Amino acid sequence: MEKIKVLNGYAGIGGNRKLWQDVDVTAVENNESIAKIYQDFFPDDKVIIADAHQYLLEHYKEFDFIWSSPPCPTHSRMRTLKNNCGECEKKYPDMKLYEEIIYLKHFFKGKWVVENVISYYEPLIKPFPSENHYFWSNFYISYRNPIERNIRRHGDVGLIYKKWGFDLINYGLPNRLKQKILNNLVSPNLGLHIFNCAFKEKQKTL
Ligand SMILES: C[S@@+](CC[C@H](N)C(=O)[O-])C[C@H]1O[C@@H](n2cnc3c(N)ncnc32)[C@H](O)[C@@H]1O
Repeated sequence: MEKIKVLNGYAGIGGNRKLWQDVDVTAVENNESIAKIYQDFFPDDKVIIADAHQYLLEHYKEFDFIWSSPPCPTHSRMRTLKNNCGECEKKYPDMKLYEEIIYLKHFFKGKWVVENVISYYEPLIKPFPSENHYFWSNFYISYRNPIERNIRRHGDVGLIYKKWGFDLINYGLPNRLKQKILNNLVSPNLGLHIFNCAFKEKQKTL
């Protein structure tokens, strides 16, 4: 049987991808150091160092399933603190998030999901909330509660290592960057849950 061809956009080190099996994954990540770590964890995946937004536009037709995790900092509830603080740089929400949702919804024939944090504003397009994330997709995503996320948030690197199997200890990166990379992970169980919603579980109507 042919493997499902997956585009894993804004791949990070692959939290969402960790438990997917029998898939042919192309991961796009623009940070070379992060892409290298992803490749170590997933040696069979094709890793491309590029702008995931542009890559999606040019290559979406080549895939059966697309997962996209555009950067969240300009949407997150933390942003309200920064935009309200005197010395901090002010930022508009980055609308590439909605560009991708609208584009995929209208032009991509396969299954797709775009993931982001819960935003400080009312989402412009209604998402599925799950585990403290928002998901936009063309299939039904059932809710999972955010227990794992809370453990990750309040835990330390060692706890994340034990829980999710991502060990960055031997990488020569600043600890702050390691922590940031680990904080960006979508929990592997949630990644699998979403994948199963797309392909294995009986679909409910939207
Ligand atoms: C939220 S993290 C992704 C987390 C990933 N889905 C996971 O579960 O582990 C977003 C990643 O996108 C990368 N990134 C940011 N802008 C990008 C761009 N324009 N193209 C490709 N990757 C980008 C960041 O370096 C970061 O690793």
